[in-house]
Amino acid sequence: MNRILIGAQWGDEGKGKIIDLLARKSDIIVRYQGGNNAGHTVKFDDEKFVLHLIPSGILHPGKICVIGNGAVIDPQAFFEEVRVLAAKGVSVKGRLFVSETAHLLFPYHKLMDQLREESFGRRSGMIGTTKKGIGPCYADKMARVGLRVGDLKNPAFFKVRLAQVLAERNEILKKIYRHPGLSFSEIWRQVESYRRELLKFSADTPRYLFEASRKGRSILFEGAQGTMLDVDHGTYPYVTSSNASVGGAITGSGVSPTLIDHVIGVVKAYTTRVGEGPFPSQFPERLMKVIQTKGEEFGSTTGRPRRCGWFDAVIARHAVRINGLDEMAVMKLDVLSGLKEIKIATAYKIGGKLCENYPAAIEEFSKAKPVYETHPGWDEDLSGIRRWKQLPANARRYLKRLETLLATRIKIVSVGSKRAQTIFL
Ligand code: GDP
Ligand code: IMO
Ligand code: MG
Repeated sequence: MNRILIGAQWGDEGKGKIIDLLARKSDIIVRYQGGNNAGHTVKFDDEKFVLHLIPSGILHPGKICVIGNGAVIDPQAFFEEVRVLAAKGVSVKGRLFVSETAHLLFPYHKLMDQLREESFGRRSGMIGTTKKGIGPCYADKMARVGLRVGDLKNPAFFKVRLAQVLAERNEILKKIYRHPGLSFSEIWRQVESYRRELLKFSADTPRYLFEASRKGRSILFEGAQGTMLDVDHGTYPYVTSSNASVGGAITGSGVSPTLIDHVIGVVKAYTTRVGEGPFPSQFPERLMKVIQTKGEEFGSTTGRPRRCGWFDAVIARHAVRINGLDEMAVMKLDVLSGLKEIKIATAYKIGGKLCENYPAAIEEFSKAKPVYETHPGWDEDLSGIRRWKQLPANARRYLKRLETLLATRIKIVSVGSKRAQTIFL
């Protein structure tokens, strides 16, 4: 069985925890888009792991992990993650493969990301990126001036192309950003330092995945970010630069859609977003602080506080449609305990008009005022609950209402960050 797991909000839904649970019944786990802008948390046995670029399935001994062609690889971040895993006793040897057509991320990508954000500033269109260089790296890929993992096999070509691209980049740095530019010899020295090591991981991953699937091995696709951060289907321009929705799994791995059996969406029982961009159901200040603290809503990659709000059924319905979700996992229900009332945004009012569907134009979306329905809350601590029937009646009603609003079955309810704190339906 080949399954795709997708974030159905603005990222950080709790994908890492669910991947870790589903990895048990999968043979191969594939990251297919994004880079080390992602931060996927897995907790067990009093250990906490945050995976950025390497699939979360790596924590299960013996599972094969693949970083597909659609991901972008910062080699320094990659090897740092390998080192952190090794220090915690997790070996990647012989079971981690990187696509030879995945693009490499260079220091000038990170620098351009930072400088552009700083120059735009909060008032005029900064995105609030993770400053990991993701946007500039994907831009180079599309402009056909990127360098790929497999290019490391041919240092002569690599060197010429790198020099060409850096010369152009340095002109932009000097003329637009008044930055002295980056040294070619320093970047080349870095490339030389990781070239052979990285090539040891490189493989023809589309062929590997095709053949593995033919042999009946099951593949789990680990989405990063979330549908509302998808460059096509999200809140553009306040998005990431890859396809975080279901299509990204296909192009980003080279696996045909005919081989996919199931698509699972992950949502939080409320909504969060990091970085800039409209967020209609955002909480007022006081409630924001309460949920931020209780839900430990601080970025796994940048440590920034995440903005928090009520569950937004309009964007979640958009995610159900775009991804063709077969089922959902609802995370962090425990965080909502103790609230007198819980709201769900079921539609928006935009310029006085009722709007039940996500409007693609950012000008419209930024004017959206949520239309809420209000549900009674519950006081019980949910963190020890393991069965549907033990959940407070109001919590069950809330979940049932989400199912109806999204017309999708909930198959997993999460009531804590640990593996065991999970209710399977
Ligand atoms: P991802 O990017 O989608 O993998 O999510 P992150 O790891 O960035 O953020 C999710 C956070 O919520 C992590 O700190 C998890 O440990 C935590 N978490 C996951 N599920 C639950 C849950 O059901 N309850 C609580 N309280 N925390 C959870
Ligand atoms: P995971 O996989 C939440 C957000 C950034 C910013 C926008 C663009 O952990 O869910 P980028 O650096 O990608 O150019 O930033 O996207 N963002 C995420 N938000 N979770 C993530 O990943 C994110 N990856 C990027 O905050 O708003
Ligand atoms: Mg995250």
